[in-house]
Amino acid sequence: MIKDIDVLVIGSNVMDLISYVDRLPHKGETVEAPSFEMGFGGKGANQAVAASRLGAQVAMLTCVGNDNFGVETRANFVANHIDISGVLTGHQSNGVAPIFVESNGDNRILVVQGANTELTPEVLLDKIDLIKRAKVIVLQQEVPMPTNIKAIHLAKKYNIPIIYNPAPAHKLPLDVLPAVDYLIPNESELTAITKMPVSTVQETKAAARRLLSFGVANVIVTMGDRGALWITAGQEATLVDGQDVNAIDTTGAGDAFVGAFAHYFARGESLETAIIQANAYAALSVMTRGTQKSYPSVSHHMTKEVHA
Ligand code: RIB
Repeated sequence: MIKDIDVLVIGSNVMDLISYVDRLPHKGETVEAPSFEMGFGGKGANQAVAASRLGAQVAMLTCVGNDNFGVETRANFVANHIDISGVLTGHQSNGVAPIFVESNGDNRILVVQGANTELTPEVLLDKIDLIKRAKVIVLQQEVPMPTNIKAIHLAKKYNIPIIYNPAPAHKLPLDVLPAVDYLIPNESELTAITKMPVSTVQETKAAARRLLSFGVANVIVTMGDRGALWITAGQEATLVDGQDVNAIDTTGAGDAFVGAFAHYFARGESLETAIIQANAYAALSVMTRGTQKSYPSVSHHMTKEVHA
């Protein structure tokens, strides 16, 4: 067990079943796909692995399945130097995600939550020691919402900052937002929460500002190859440029961003630096195939200009 926890990720783990396709089949049609790869995924686990590969001391609170995927997932956490004292084994099969990646790198994902549904609020109370020791807690939405709400309340009680990634988009109880320090949606999640358009940067800024009015302290919108946008009260929006890279597979790029941001934040970097570095790390992750497989292990610094 690690003594100091820089980043505690409370969330999902999933086995990714990735088919690389030329095109998706129509109803009733069978289409041959050029290749397939299996790899470790799940938004929570991806974020934990990204932070750990950048050098953070990471612990994970999650529930793996009672099958081979569960055994392999647990071993993968160990191989990635992640504290597994909060990794439980559930009574059902591991979460799985059939993923389809098209030739331009775009992806479509189905998630079967499996044992992730067993990460209940009671588990958090059993593992309260992990929560108390964390410098920052990272949440996403592939586990039961009551668990996230409990995590937010406990984090507030122990004065631990919360990074909340509202992915995949679900109905988010807006009354929890004042307790969230850093909300990191992508553009479609931002639209899902605010019901506002995000087709231009101006629209994205307006939608992010709406979230501030719900009480979130900071909103950081990930915008893929267009970079990231940070909004906080009383300040102009900060726009970090996208990186000009050749996208092969964008699966897990948002998680790479969140995990890297958590690492740089826990290390005490300024928010701007953490966002710039997270943006660069996410860009590196799209240049190769796979989810966690595409996360580099060392700090590659690809800094870019920041615009007010
Ligand atoms: O964000 C990418 C992840 O979403 C994949 O790893 C898949 O498991 C789904 O959870």
